[in-house]
Amino acid sequence: MKILMIGSGGREHALIKKLLESPKCTKLYCAPGNGGISRDAELVDIGVMDKENMVKFAKDNAIDLVFVAPDDPLADGMVDAMQEAGIRAFGPNANAAIIEASKVFSKNLMKKYGIPTAKYEVFSDAQKAIDYIKSENTAPVVVKADGLALGKGVIIAQTVDEAIDAVKEIMEDKKFGDSGNNIVIEEFLTGPEVSVLAFTDGKCVKPMVSSKDHKRAFDNDEGLNTGGMGTISPNPYYTDEIAKECMDTIFIPTIEAMNKEGRPFKGCLYFGLMLTPNGPKVIEYNARFGDPEAQVVLPRLKTDLVDICEAVIDEKLSDLDIEWDNGAAACVVMASGGYPVSYKKGIEMFGLDDKGGVDGAIVYHAGTKYENGKFYTNGGRVLGVTATADTLDEALKKAYAAVEKISFEGAHYRHDIGKTK
Ligand code: AMP
Ligand code: GLY
Repeated sequence: MKILMIGSGGREHALIKKLLESPKCTKLYCAPGNGGISRDAELVDIGVMDKENMVKFAKDNAIDLVFVAPDDPLADGMVDAMQEAGIRAFGPNANAAIIEASKVFSKNLMKKYGIPTAKYEVFSDAQKAIDYIKSENTAPVVVKADGLALGKGVIIAQTVDEAIDAVKEIMEDKKFGDSGNNIVIEEFLTGPEVSVLAFTDGKCVKPMVSSKDHKRAFDNDEGLNTGGMGTISPNPYYTDEIAKECMDTIFIPTIEAMNKEGRPFKGCLYFGLMLTPNGPKVIEYNARFGDPEAQVVLPRLKTDLVDICEAVIDEKLSDLDIEWDNGAAACVVMASGGYPVSYKKGIEMFGLDDKGGVDGAIVYHAGTKYENGKFYTNGGRVLGVTATADTLDEALKKAYAAVEKISFEGAHYRHDIGKTK
């Protein structure tokens, strides 16, 4: 099979390395990909939002399967465009990807179908939102832009004044553009966070092994929120008992709710959960694999990913037994100095072999360039250095030992992945 991966980050690299394990995969393309991905797949210079050229490329090259990994092209209907051209594509249609693309949609869905989540109100008028915050007079309180905002549209306001400033920035200064036309103001929840990705064909849902993201930039959960500085799998807080409860109260009800809304979800649905003192609640849905969750979940997948993609597309997922490795995986993200604010690109990297890897770990490239046999930084998150082992401690040791072998000017990474709540 000829497969086309759409995207360019560490998640896409993890998906590509897993697809390459399949005997069915004979040719793999990635658009646009990155330096590390270029060592595993043929890069195609087409942007992720360019539906017209992407469809043309898929047709011209007789692609058998397209995998749409990032949120923006999913929300914009890349899967729909492929299907209209008769090309098989993995990922939700735009009318289902809205579960991530609009927080107003997802919150209203949860309320309508009784799926546990934080209490909230929706506003399209800044003054009304500010009046509400003042009348409630509680903090912390969470302010969320409705639409996609590169993972930055959530503000945990520690005071009422901070919440009011957040409303002004989002709705009046348009910090996230039209994504902030509507906002959600939400109750602040506490408890450990768990990421559960699940395969679903709209009929049945098969959760993958759990994981935990470390979103803050620096050790001890200090600094700004990032796209994710590291992950572990499994998540130690996610017991079998909690998994069962989530299946009954969250996963199945969500799939059924989407069907009832006439928006069947097919692809990978990401449940961002918080294990609150009052039970597990949904913090957010994503319509795709998490990044860097994919980097710890996929290495533990034993079943052929091509088979899973086909079963999802053909709505035959219930027939497939998906197997997982019983051990653990850890991913440490190496980022550019200054990330997530501003950072330089084009810095030469040392310690990687010609394939972009190091001994003892799997190196997923997130933001790199490959030129004349050398790797250079080309993004905020640069690498996801991942190791698997029988236990989480061993996986962490292996991942950190591999990180020590890699260097580039300004590189920073967290030293406490797997250690904090
Ligand atoms: P999101 O972009 O929706 O994943 O939110 C980013 C992060 O904000 C989450 O991973 C949580 O740590 C935090 N967060 C979002 N909503 C809430 C909430 N209602 N209560 C507490 N923390 C939250
Ligand atoms: N790591 C969080 C996300 O992919 O949204």
